[in-house]
Amino acid sequence: MISVLVAHAKGGCGKTTIATNLATAFANAGLQTGLADADRQGSSMKWLKLRPDTAAPIETLNWRKGTGDVPKQMARLVIDAGAGVDSKRVRALLKDADMIIMPVLPSVFDEAATKRFLKRVDELKPIQSGRKPVMIVGNRVRASTRAAKDLDAFLGKLGHDTVTMLGDRAIYQDVARQGLGIFDLAPSRRAGVVNDWLPLVRRIEDWVGERAGDAL
Ligand SMILES: Nc1ncnc2c1ncn2[C@@H]1O[C@H](COP(=O)(O)OP(=O)(O)O)[C@@H](O)[C@H]1O
Ligand SMILES: [Mg+2]
Repeated sequence: MISVLVAHAKGGCGKTTIATNLATAFANAGLQTGLADADRQGSSMKWLKLRPDTAAPIETLNWRKGTGDVPKQMARLVIDAGAGVDSKRVRALLKDADMIIMPVLPSVFDEAATKRFLKRVDELKPIQSGRKPVMIVGNRVRASTRAAKDLDAFLGKLGHDTVTMLGDRAIYQDVARQGLGIFDLAPSRRAGVVNDWLPLVRRIEDWVGERAGDAL
C-alpha cells in the first residue's frame, strides 16, 4: 500500500480538494482506494457520503479521533489532515504515510503560515532524512498573473519540489457537490484540467516504483 498525507496548518488552501480528487485518480485506475478523514470538520467524509454508487468505489476511514486500521488489501490511501494540525499530529499521521502533499495558495497572507508549518515538518525525522518526500502543489493558480509569478518565486525557495500547479477552476466545486472528482469525468469533460494532476499522480506512482526497486 502507498499512503499520501495531504497537510497544511491553514484552512482553505485545498487539502480536501486534493485529497478527494487524488482518491478518484487511484479509484478510477482500478486500485482499491481509501480516503481517511483526519479533519474535525469531516469534509472528506461528507464528500464520500455524496458519492454515487455508480462511481469508482472509495472506502471511508474515519480518523477524526486518531488513526485507525487500514484494510490489508488497500492499494492506495489518501489522508486528509484537516486544518490546524500541529507537529505532534502531523508526526502521528506521517507514521501511516509515505509522503506529504502540501497545497499552497498564491496569497501573500499564506506565505508566513506556509513557512511556519514547513519549518516544523522539516524537523520530522523521515522528512529530514529524505525517506519521505514533501511534494508542494501550487493551488488556485491563475496563469500569467503577478500572483502566479510571486507564488513561483516563493515556492522555489522552500527547499522541496513543487510538483504541479492546479488552476483556479469552478469545476472543482461543481464535481465536489456531486461527490465526484476530476478523474470520474468523461475524458471530454476533464480535458484541460486533468493535465494539472498528471505530474502529481505520476510522481506518486514513480515513488512507489523507486521504493519497490530499493527493496530488491
Ligand atoms: N483549484 C481550485 N479551483 C477552484 N476552487 C478551489 C480550488 N481548490 C480549492 N477550491 C475551493 O476552495 C475552497 C477550499 O478548498 P478545500 O479543498 O476545502 O480546502 P481545505 O480542505 O484546505 O480547507 C473550496 O470551496 C474548494 O472548492
Ligand atoms: Mg478540508
